[in-house]
Amino acid sequence: MIKIVTIVGARPQFIKAAPVSKAIASQQGLREVLIHTGQHFDQNMSEVFFDQMDIPRPRHFLNIHSLSHGAMTGRMLEEAESIMIKEKPDLVMVYGDTNSTLAGALAAAKLNVPVAHVEAGLRSHNMEMPEEINRILTDRVSRILFCPTKAAVNNLTREGFAEFPCKIHLTGDVMYDASLLFADKARKPAKVRLPAHFVLATIHREANTKNPDNLANIIRGINQVAEKRAVVFPIHPRTYKVIHGNDLPPLSKKIKLIEPVGYLEMLHLLQNSQLVMTDSGGVQKEAYFFKKPCITLREETEWTELVDAGYNKLCGTTPDLMTDAARDFFAEAPVFQQGLYGNGNASAKIAKALSDS
Ligand code: UD1
Ligand code: UDP
Repeated sequence: MIKIVTIVGARPQFIKAAPVSKAIASQQGLREVLIHTGQHFDQNMSEVFFDQMDIPRPRHFLNIHSLSHGAMTGRMLEEAESIMIKEKPDLVMVYGDTNSTLAGALAAAKLNVPVAHVEAGLRSHNMEMPEEINRILTDRVSRILFCPTKAAVNNLTREGFAEFPCKIHLTGDVMYDASLLFADKARKPAKVRLPAHFVLATIHREANTKNPDNLANIIRGINQVAEKRAVVFPIHPRTYKVIHGNDLPPLSKKIKLIEPVGYLEMLHLLQNSQLVMTDSGGVQKEAYFFKKPCITLREETEWTELVDAGYNKLCGTTPDLMTDAARDFFAEAPVFQQGLYGNGNASAKIAKALSDS
């Protein structure tokens, strides 16, 4: 029996873990124990996903959040290490690119426990992004790298990973698996009156929230787009705090600001939107899964294949680029070819590779 300790902590990690934990549970010879770092802790940022997606309950809660990068990563590293010493895993699994990811990977690597990284090989090539630092370091200490795309495999090859003591698997994207598993269960957010036609917006990136000028420009851009089409905006707690703590342009009345929603409600919003505006990594891909064009509120993306195919336009924080892109997408929606993120069996491939490891 191979014992896997999985570390999760932030919203996108719960969503990624859901299909993988299911696949692990049905793969003979594997057993999984979860650690929740506590990085995300509001009911609608954490517990709701465990409930809706039937994710195994974590055995360990670290309750570490709302700290600077170093303090958060350092405290998680220390706590994760002491749990791993007790749990004695054969393998530690981490997801994505958050501080929880790096802390878990480092704790395991320093105990000489092999690390498996789901969503390996992604690069924005922007070293000012905390996530880019987390990705590069996590990949480097991982022994098993599960890449969602060929571009991710190519990034690792370019960085010399073929020479490192690790195994690279091209699996497809586990978020695609999740979207297929749960699409039929999508449901309208309770107590929200949705406009008939709307743009779905999400914002939370550090680059867009740390500097209020950037958020002010994004608000101007979304306000301009809202003149043409109503906007539904489930707001991340980080962004909520910045909007309420600074003198920013008021949000247009055509923007419906709502609390963060569960995954099933998010699927409903994605399925029924006409355009997505986001700086989220996961939401860029989900726009594509549901055949919605996407305006990305960043200068670059790790999901370059979406931009190359014309499904996603990078608009940074420039309002006029956003309105031009929205106008173009409304005038002519792209014809979506599926297949960029695998066949929906990434989780099964991951479980199989883990049991063969
Ligand atoms: C983190 C990840 C980011 C990921 C995002 C997903 C890092 C460096 N960043 O960013 O890669 O895209 O999660 O959403 O790991 N907060 C709450 N309630 C919550 C969660 C957060 O109030 O449930 C507040 C925190 O107190 C903090 C702020 O939001 O003030 C930011 O949280 P943090 O986890 O540091 O970063 P995110 O922006 O969420
Ligand atoms: N999401 C959600 N409710 C929301 C906003 C996002 O369930 O109110 C989901 C979204 O569908 C995607 C994931 O959260 O599956 C993306 O997480 P986030 O944008 O927080 O982080 P990122 O992907 O940028 O790391």
